[in-house]
Amino acid sequence: MANPKVFVTRAIPEGGMRLLEAVCAVEVWPGEAPPPREALLERVQGAAGLLCMVTDRVDAALFDAAGPGFKVVSNLAVGFNNIDVTEATQRGVPIGNTPGVLTETTADLAFGLLVAAARRLVEGADMARAGAWTAWGPTLLLGRDVHGATLGIVGMGRIGEAMARRARGFDMKVIFSDPAGKAAGCGLDEVLAEADFVSLHVPLTQATRGLVGDRALSLMKPTAVLVNTARGEVVDTDALVRALSSGTIAAAALDVTDPEPLPPSHPLLFLPNCLVVPHLGSASLATRDRMSVMAAQNILAGLRGERLPNCVNPQVYEGKALVPR
Ligand code: DGY
Repeated sequence: MANPKVFVTRAIPEGGMRLLEAVCAVEVWPGEAPPPREALLERVQGAAGLLCMVTDRVDAALFDAAGPGFKVVSNLAVGFNNIDVTEATQRGVPIGNTPGVLTETTADLAFGLLVAAARRLVEGADMARAGAWTAWGPTLLLGRDVHGATLGIVGMGRIGEAMARRARGFDMKVIFSDPAGKAAGCGLDEVLAEADFVSLHVPLTQATRGLVGDRALSLMKPTAVLVNTARGEVVDTDALVRALSSGTIAAAALDVTDPEPLPPSHPLLFLPNCLVVPHLGSASLATRDRMSVMAAQNILAGLRGERLPNCVNPQVYEGKALVPR
């Protein structure tokens, strides 16, 4: 039998590619940018598996386009808000993700953003690069201390916990709220009101979309810094622009935005108290390689009719005969 076709929506690190190429007919989208919608629907036709990114929408139209031989979707990410999981489950298609492996790497970036915003690193680097650094100055680019400050974590899952460990190493006081309700903590309002730094670590769901809007921002201290490495849609972008422009909060550091990417003329990119980086949370060489291996392992298990090692909709296996691993 011919090797099953797997469409991969962007070039992924070698570890995962090697695993796939050993047993599949792999087609990789060649661009740096995500495949346009029509191209995605066209390329997935006749595929048995899809290895996709957070930038690819996977929904009923995609399952229809793929056809009856479609067996598995594997997202190169822990988050899966780009996928209609209910639709996939109804169709019996397992969805894989890459939890755990990117926890520490994402927390590293979140803490780095926190420090960068607090100590105005990007403004300083811009000044030095522009030749505007003329002398040491007693009031030059004064920032805020990280040590001894209070960190408010919103979402105490794996990445939230990793963030808390980093904060304790900086002698910060850590308070948290867990809107998913799994970990006992404070109420969200209390965290927003008391924290010097608020770091978001919730998945994007119906309940967390727009969680940080005008009201939440107005509860924060005027000296507070907001860090978002979760999903852009957790924050109301227009409300954040207003809060940063009017001094409702002091600064924001964002790895994720809504929309993503921001258009080049977007006000957030021009506010001196807003630092934006292009969704780099898990972007270390080692972590992306491990993610690619996990994503490939999910595809291979799905093609063999085995349970995916990391499956977000295990309901698809209820009452189903599986090939034992
Ligand atoms: C994830 O894993 O969900 C990230 O946002 C993409 O690396």
